[in-house]
Amino acid sequence: MNQYQHVDDSAESLRDGTIKLHGPAAFEAMRRAGRLAAEILDALVPMVQPGVATGAIDDAVRQMTLDGGAVPATLGYRGYTHSCCISINHVVCHGIPSEKVLKDGDVVNIDVTPLLDGWHGDSSRMYLVGDVPLKARRLVDVTHECLMLGIEQAKPGNRLGDIGAAIQAYAEQNRYGVVREFCGHGLGQLFHDAPEVVHAARPGSGPELKPGMLFTIEPMINLGKSAVKLLNDGWTAVTRDKSLSAQFEHSIGITEDGCEIFTLSPKELHKPPYA
Ligand code: MF3
Ligand code: CO
Ligand code: CO
Repeated sequence: MNQYQHVDDSAESLRDGTIKLHGPAAFEAMRRAGRLAAEILDALVPMVQPGVATGAIDDAVRQMTLDGGAVPATLGYRGYTHSCCISINHVVCHGIPSEKVLKDGDVVNIDVTPLLDGWHGDSSRMYLVGDVPLKARRLVDVTHECLMLGIEQAKPGNRLGDIGAAIQAYAEQNRYGVVREFCGHGLGQLFHDAPEVVHAARPGSGPELKPGMLFTIEPMINLGKSAVKLLNDGWTAVTRDKSLSAQFEHSIGITEDGCEIFTLSPKELHKPPYA
């Protein structure tokens, strides 16, 4: 069985478990969706302040997504009713926007997914709320470094596991835990597609990386142990030991000689401090 499939990017995508190999039209569409995701994350910087409710941030994300000619892919996705995920402190991912207000010292992940002209941009960044203790800032810094070290491994000839291996090695050198329950994923016309991009792996394991593959890398790194649990709302994932967790996410495409990052910040607001 061939696990790869060259696809016609002008036709509808099927979730058939194969790893899709896309052409130039898909890269152009992903560039546009990815740029919008990055612009939204850039525009949120001044808004992430003590006293702001996460629901207000969600409203701003929805409005900016619509203004950009896109729709938030999370709206109505498997029963999710918000336009982004906002994960504070020990929340690992999929935090639900609410009346909850950000407070001084919080570290926050905001994850946005505009669906533009049928293609998904998926990206998240960490934000620091007011004065954040050094331990937490260090976790955020190392998590961004984990993402970028993973991206460095994203090139033809390498295997998918080389990405997770680089992330895991750097996180564990820093005595942090790498979350296993949530992964990066193929994307394009589908929000979540093959392959699964794990963030802890053996070097040289997994499928070979080939030009035309589109996927996210989105490591979740914990200050404490790697274990997570799901809250009763069915979405919110938190660290079992209540330690802080950080995450950054980019959407990328494998090229002939490396990869293209679709969700890079046009304002170079790659990681905090953004001021
Ligand atoms: N954006 C998340 C990801 O990186 C998915 C969020 S799905 C939601 O894959 F329903 F929780 F919003
Ligand atoms: Co994602
Ligand atoms: Co995301």
